[in-house]
Amino acid sequence: MKPMKIPKIKDGTVIDHIPAGNAIKVLRILGIPEKTSSIVSVAMNVKSRIGRKDIVKVENRELARDEVDKIALIAPKATINIIRDYEVVEKHQVELPDELIGIVRCSNPTCISNTREPIESRFKVISKDPPRIVCYYCEREPEDIDEKII
Ligand code: CTP
Repeated sequence: MKPMKIPKIKDGTVIDHIPAGNAIKVLRILGIPEKTSSIVSVAMNVKSRIGRKDIVKVENRELARDEVDKIALIAPKATINIIRDYEVVEKHQVELPDELIGIVRCSNPTCISNTREPIESRFKVISKDPPRIVCYYCEREPEDIDEKII
């Protein structure tokens, strides 16, 4: 029997090449299920050319810049496919920008981005894959970036 595949979608966004096991983090970043009523399908541990991967398909929705930046932190090789009328009309690999503002919380409780209300968190990206970031203010590098995504 052929393995069952999740159906192709008519319109929306497919986030492909997510490291196996990380689909749930992508759902959390997209505010699923709390903040969306879009139809979402998820495939986990799908065989691919380079081992196992997860796939998330969100119907009738495109992603915001900050959502793509957050996905790049946990799935640096993910591809974002925009689907219109069943065709892939755009495909790009996620790429972290050089700086992240208001995306990740600093793990240093005394950092001014945590202690002064109007100061947004700001990180310099020192490696895009694997993702490594350091705080612009206190230079602290968070150990588990996933846990610090806002
Ligand atoms: N897809 C979908 N609905 C469509 C078209 C594509 O869900 N109407 C999904 C495919 O199942 C795949 C992803 O979007 O997971 C990218 O599609 P495509 O570019 O056709 O696949 P590949 O060539 O295998 O992609 P890549 O080269 O990025 O691995």
